[in-house]
Amino acid sequence: MKRILYVTAEAAPFAASGGLGDVMGALPRAVGRYGGRGVEVSVILPLYRAIEAEKRESMQPIYEGNLTLAWREIPYSVYACSHLGVTYYFVENPRYFDRPALYGEYDDGERFAFFCRAVLDFFLSTDRVPHILHANDWQAALSVIYPRTVYASDPRLASLRTVFTIHNIAYQGRYESGILSDVFDIHPAHRKLLEHAGEINLMAGAIRLADRVTTVSPRYAEEICHERGGEGLSSVLCERGRTVGILNGIDCEYFSPEEGILAMPYTAKNAVHGKAENKRAIQREVGLSQDGAPLLLMVTRLTEQKGLDLALAALPEIFAARAQLILLGTGDGYYEDAFGKAAEEWQNLRFLRRFDRDMSKKLYAAADLFLMPSRTEPCGLAQMIACRYGAVPIVRATGGLADSIVPYGRVGGNGFLFERYEADVFSETVLAAISLYRRDPAAFDRLRRTAMRTDFSWRRPCAEYLALYRMLMEE
Ligand code: GLC
Repeated sequence: MKRILYVTAEAAPFAASGGLGDVMGALPRAVGRYGGRGVEVSVILPLYRAIEAEKRESMQPIYEGNLTLAWREIPYSVYACSHLGVTYYFVENPRYFDRPALYGEYDDGERFAFFCRAVLDFFLSTDRVPHILHANDWQAALSVIYPRTVYASDPRLASLRTVFTIHNIAYQGRYESGILSDVFDIHPAHRKLLEHAGEINLMAGAIRLADRVTTVSPRYAEEICHERGGEGLSSVLCERGRTVGILNGIDCEYFSPEEGILAMPYTAKNAVHGKAENKRAIQREVGLSQDGAPLLLMVTRLTEQKGLDLALAALPEIFAARAQLILLGTGDGYYEDAFGKAAEEWQNLRFLRRFDRDMSKKLYAAADLFLMPSRTEPCGLAQMIACRYGAVPIVRATGGLADSIVPYGRVGGNGFLFERYEADVFSETVLAAISLYRRDPAAFDRLRRTAMRTDFSWRRPCAEYLALYRMLMEE
């Protein structure tokens, strides 16, 4: 039996604030399912305050320990529960994790150093060291760094193989150099391994020390190796050689147009009728007119990366073309204010300032077109979810968007793409899509059905991860 452990700061349905949480909620389960009897899958994350009481009830306390992190003596507990065939472990320490936010705290470096140290301390103390430790993003970086530094001579970790996945290279865990021994508890002799551009950089350390580095789409793997896309880390990635890009999947059972919460569940076969019903229901709910206008949708975190300045610039043309637009999401105050103001100005715009998964499903089911003009996008899940519900995506050809969406007109065309990050290019693409929708409903319907039938399940990515794990274990 091979033990595969995912180390992560987020995993749905326990704690998730974005794509990382979704992926960590679905990939481990898929690996358990497709990996068959030979693999045992678990996930470890912090026990945050945000984890609901109802979820806590299913957890059992299984371990109490004490660890040292430099001069600190830190007590911690581990809780466990089993969910859909995967064992979830939760590291508890109220001082670090009983707080309102998941992260973004002044002492995140210390919190996640503690978390990663606890991961190793727990598995070593209970004699359950995994065969594969798969760490995700900078918060989990130290879990691949510690085995090769602090525990480098520990024979119990000699056969441990590690994978580090970059979900977004823009967030690296960068600190001033004093943090190395005082907080991370790493001997100055190892400084070079974690240092980059005069700072301690956790992502750089994990890139150097993991047995394999992967990211969440082949195109992004290429982009981050070049100076323009590497956010300062391209040289570190280049030294390592090839970064493997594996496109994420989505949970096709969780995101399904056949599900009961919709006004009318539907499939690709009766999408025209089904989507029309769902569209009417949403238009009624948010007070948009029902006059045959195409309904455009964005579901996104409101951050710079997501191309919101392009969306704002395109509003006049979108509404001149008599389309409707709904935006669901929260994020930076700047964008919240800008869209709040725009919604007062434009009668056909609704801004739903919240994070609401059930509402997002109803919106995907109702929408004709889905906008995702990201400046950068490591993988992106929303465009795949949109396809699943037949909301035809309009995306910028970057990262995982370029790998998952094929332009209309080509074989397998399931959406619209534009290359240059410019407001005019984006508006032109949106107008072309709106025009197809009005001019040629039969062609639009074919496009929508192709989108709905594109396979974004975890089957293929999962096979790629399993092949990678097997290869590593044989090394
Ligand atoms: C990050 C990326 C997003 C990706 C997700 C899951 O949130 O920004 O593109 O889909 O991680 O890997």
